Amino acid sequence: MLCFRYNPGPLREGNALIGKPEEAKYGFTREQLIEGYRKIAAMGVKRFGLHTMVASNELSPDYFVETAKMVFELAVEIHKKVGIRFDFINLGGGVGIAYRPDQTAVDLVFVGKKVKEAYEAILVPAGLAPVRVAMECGRVVTGPYGYLVTRVLHKKAIYKNYVGLDACMANLMRPGMYGSYHHISVPGKETGPKKVYDVTGSLCENNDKFAIDREIPDPETGDLLVIHDTGAHGHSMGFNYNAKLRSAEVLWQGEGKFQVIRRAETYADLFATLDYPGLK
Ligand SMILES: Cc1ncc(COP(=O)(O)O)c(C=O)c1O
Repeated sequence: MLCFRYNPGPLREGNALIGKPEEAKYGFTREQLIEGYRKIAAMGVKRFGLHTMVASNELSPDYFVETAKMVFELAVEIHKKVGIRFDFINLGGGVGIAYRPDQTAVDLVFVGKKVKEAYEAILVPAGLAPVRVAMECGRVVTGPYGYLVTRVLHKKAIYKNYVGLDACMANLMRPGMYGSYHHISVPGKETGPKKVYDVTGSLCENNDKFAIDREIPDPETGDLLVIHDTGAHGHSMGFNYNAKLRSAEVLWQGEGKFQVIRRAETYADLFATLDYPGLK
């Protein structure tokens, strides 16, 4: 089985996270795909898949319906030009989550209904049904269910007001890497006074900030501070720069039950892969 990824280039807009498709490194052009399927069929490949992924963290349900229509029509075109059928069509991931309190999660039931309509309108008449239609979502599966629980180590007022945390980009890179919004709460202080802060991590990099000019409940040194929606691109995206150690991961099992499912890193972990003679 062989599957190629389609990059629609200027035909789709993409979005801020994944970039414009024509500037993205992924996939093949329409012409390359058709040529590619022709070549691999001639080489003896018998089973085929077709894939695309054009957006990341996209909140518009219509975007996914448009993607489905685009790739279904492409499957029909390839079928007509090359004579192959597809075992599956993969619409990629990219379903966004409501990082901001005023955002709305994608209505996946609506997307499913509209994709089914497109399947019946495009693939069935072309004789390409049945074909498995898949998505490969990541963020929407785990993102909203992770929280980074961190402690306020310092408060500082210079040209701006700062809250300094014991967490840093080792635990969550997204805000520093692409300015992403992650909601921040201070347990027990939901209704107290608020103040505008830069909420910073403990790295020497000045972009190690979880929020810039953000009004949050005014915390005290020693308070816990919770950064929301860190279940995707959190721990797994982190790094050990400045010899920072990634924290443990705890699974909440409901009804007050918790389980440590990943221990915190130690300095021994940092050196575990170093293979330098004389270092013992
Ligand atoms: C090819 C591919 N599929 C699926 C995903 C998952 O995307 P998401 O987490 O946006 O659903 C990614 C993430 O980068 C990807 O590169």
